[in-house]
Amino acid sequence: MSRRFYLTTAIDYANGDPHHGHAYEKIGADAIARYHRLVGDEVRFCMGMDEHGQKVAQTAAAQGITPQQLVDDLAARFEGLWKRLNVSNDRWVRTTDEHHRRGVRALIDRIFERNPDDFYEKAYEGWYCVGCELFKKDNEIQDGHCVLHPTRELQWTEERNWFFRLTRYQDFLRAHFEANPDFLLPESRRNEMLALLDGGLEDISVSRARLAWAIPFRPTSDGVEQGTWVWFDALPNYLTDTGFPDGDWQAWWPAQMHVVGKDIIRLHAIIWPAMLQSAGLPLPQRVWGHGFVLLGGERFSKSSGVGLDLGEAVDRFGADAFRYFLLREVPWDSDGNFSWERFTERYTSELANGLGNLASRSTSMLAKYRDGVVPASPVQRDEAVARAVEVYRAAMDANLLHQGAEAAYEVVRVANGLVAEKQPWSIAKDPSRADELDGILATMVRYLATAAVLLSPFMPQKTAELWERLGSGRDGMPSLDELATLDVSGWKTSAGGILFPRPEVAAAA
Ligand code: MSP
Repeated sequence: MSRRFYLTTAIDYANGDPHHGHAYEKIGADAIARYHRLVGDEVRFCMGMDEHGQKVAQTAAAQGITPQQLVDDLAARFEGLWKRLNVSNDRWVRTTDEHHRRGVRALIDRIFERNPDDFYEKAYEGWYCVGCELFKKDNEIQDGHCVLHPTRELQWTEERNWFFRLTRYQDFLRAHFEANPDFLLPESRRNEMLALLDGGLEDISVSRARLAWAIPFRPTSDGVEQGTWVWFDALPNYLTDTGFPDGDWQAWWPAQMHVVGKDIIRLHAIIWPAMLQSAGLPLPQRVWGHGFVLLGGERFSKSSGVGLDLGEAVDRFGADAFRYFLLREVPWDSDGNFSWERFTERYTSELANGLGNLASRSTSMLAKYRDGVVPASPVQRDEAVARAVEVYRAAMDANLLHQGAEAAYEVVRVANGLVAEKQPWSIAKDPSRADELDGILATMVRYLATAAVLLSPFMPQKTAELWERLGSGRDGMPSLDELATLDVSGWKTSAGGILFPRPEVAAAA
């Protein structure tokens, strides 16, 4: 029976164009979604835009447009980019959607009903960072600025707000972390959060006085209108997307995995679970806190001017090459750098010379020696393939995408090694060795088919193209279990154009 797998990513702030960091997260989550489909899970994959809050309102004001104009424009730009990168999300949430707004109000009401003491009013003062949309403690401030947003001015804020009694959930959270060692991964992030819990939590302000670009919260007793703090509005997107509070929302809630960056883990592994517990709703099964894509060791950030043209990076060698490079180069459980040199190097060695060359050599030898038809050869269990699939599976099940990509690429290496060792073109000269040649050609096709399947979560378009060329005549790719004994006899291969043109050619195109 297929399992349901509901996967989400962080929803991006609608205050500027997407950068490499946003792309990395979405591509990584997409590889996870595609892998789960490959193993037969029924996947729901949700992404979206975080459109309320001061940051968005300020950006719109600075551009002389309304917040709605700004978020409409950015939502279209982000969505267009995800399509261009072949991200296969089947759900798209915008926090300005009417259904989401209703869902957030329903969630707040539910907390008021079930645990009325969890909300209380208090006059508050503190430094607010609009970049983070968070109040900052002294140890998060350096030279008068937020350490994460050094180019933004902190705002001194004095107002009466609604507070959420986060402190009440401290013991619950600790017990949850202990009972569910896999709740927050990787391990390093879990340790960070355990240390935070040890240090003690504080209640959080969840409304902002007179914030108009927000979902209305209840007014405070002094009669001042309150807008919902943007995180209290954004986190529930994962829930409202299931249809909450209407219909059969339980069919997809709780989510199996929230994929988010390391800077927002506290929000997802502490605050969000506490909100859900307070509302009497099930917690997500897992939060995965990925690391950062860096540029020369620094995080991509529009406000600090650290960035590269994302469109140019995608265009350089195409969407699939960009996806493959990012996920192979930047470990999914820690940080890594983007550089043009490494990109060109990996593209050349692994895609143009590695996979691309293997595909063209194999199909052209088949065309030359066997009219493109894969010769019948006895189907034996291929140990090298079986091993590669095993390593791949273990890596992907552990969400170590970079290791998964490496295991998949290993098949290409083994296949190219076989060609170099056997030199099928010499064997072809000797008619008495026709059976041997048959065996080698069939093996090469099996390797290629395996590489296509294993690499499909990383490069959906190129692997589909490759699969087409292998001419299996079957509908869709085989399952992982079938690979080691895949019968490729009779497949009608075709050579086609170059899958990954040499960098000079690709860049000039
Ligand atoms: N809007 C909030 C998330 C709300 S989720 C309920 C937010 N938005 S963001 O646009 O600032 O970031 C979106 C995602 O991109 C976050 O998961 C963040 O960690 C990730 N990244 C931003 N820069 C990044 C890198 N340089 N590298 C990898 N991911 C990083 O936070």
